[in-house]
Amino acid sequence: MIMKKALVCGAGGFIGGHLVNRLKSEGYWVRGVDIKENEYGNTNSDEFVLGDLRDVNLVKQVVTSDLDEIYQLAADMGGAGFVFTGDNDADIMHNSALCNLNVLEEMKRKGVKNVFYSSSACMYPEYNQMDPDNPKCSEDSAYPAAPDSEYGWEKLFSERLYLTYNRNHGFNSKIGRFHNIFGPQGTWKGGREKAPAAICRKVAMAQNGDVIEVWGDGTQTRSFLIVDECVDGIRRLMESDFAGPVNIGSEEMISIQNFTRLVMDISGKDLSIKNIEGPTGVKGRNSDNKLIKEKLGWAPSIPLRNGVEKTYNWILDQIKVTENV
Ligand code: NAD
Ligand code: GDD
Repeated sequence: MIMKKALVCGAGGFIGGHLVNRLKSEGYWVRGVDIKENEYGNTNSDEFVLGDLRDVNLVKQVVTSDLDEIYQLAADMGGAGFVFTGDNDADIMHNSALCNLNVLEEMKRKGVKNVFYSSSACMYPEYNQMDPDNPKCSEDSAYPAAPDSEYGWEKLFSERLYLTYNRNHGFNSKIGRFHNIFGPQGTWKGGREKAPAAICRKVAMAQNGDVIEVWGDGTQTRSFLIVDECVDGIRRLMESDFAGPVNIGSEEMISIQNFTRLVMDISGKDLSIKNIEGPTGVKGRNSDNKLIKEKLGWAPSIPLRNGVEKTYNWILDQIKVTENV
């Protein structure tokens, strides 16, 4: 059997690192590219290129005609503390769009046509995510478009960009809309961390009797997907004859207050919650997995608690390592 060759853009990041490992376990030859090394040494690619995908010359170097597939995960990315403050909007739109524009154009030049693009649930309209108990995120509810962040608008623009290459240049672009992916090796400190890692960190660092600060009133809802199932979803989509866009997320919706209680329960610590002001994003969000079930005959199924236990223990270990330095 001929070994398939893949390029993972954003291989130094969280999901990219896990995806490289998955592709290697499937027997792929993998080239990774990222502007930074993977902090947790999680990139087992055959070749790792440290470089900036905003630079056309770097893109010419990494997008080669012998590639069977490209996975484009590079983006200026973060949790609510990064994407919803407004302070990073120009960078987010400029940097992420440039990566997508450059990669696609070079693929066209080199005749590479199979690509996965990582979109986000943040592209769904805010008006369908105002009720924390009944958010609507079915794929066909994307328009009229009204994302609540520039990050979401860039994702929507880039989705459309990939689809134009399908229509005009015979590309086989596949689009997954990720819903808050978490797990070991994810960003857990520094300002870009998402709620699962942030809350696990706060709880892991607390002593009995401490107070955990949670942004917003805690009634906002989300669903969180463990990274292993995200990577599974990416691979299943790539192997299918369906292009998407399709949600890759969990349907196990939970309020942020209850999520915090879940982490506290896992920790076994006696803690209380204080709700404070902070960037909150939409009031409610949940994956809708009707389409993925219909098209791929599969949907994520790992219970939230299992993923949180794994992540909490990993963050606890990271804190111990950091404290020993
Ligand atoms: P991440 O930040 O860990 O990974 C993104 C990687 O892209 C980083 O390592 C970063 O250095 C790299 N990158 C950014 N700009 C680059 C550039 N100019 N050149 C080269 N590399 C560059 O984030 P992640 O959680 O692994 O997310 C991967 C993708 O999935 C992103 O496109 C993100 O927007 C999307 N996504 C993630 C989530 C989530 O919950 N994690 C949700 C929705 C969508
Ligand atoms: N990050 C963070 N840190 N969020 C907190 C905290 C905290 O300490 N405390 C409470 N929250 C709340 C946020 O205010 C928000 O309402 C909710 O937890 C979820 O926050 P995040 O996990 O940071 O982001 P998100 O779900 O709103 O959006 C994320 O997921 C999208 C995909 O579903 C972002 O990472 C987006 O970039 C991503 O595309």
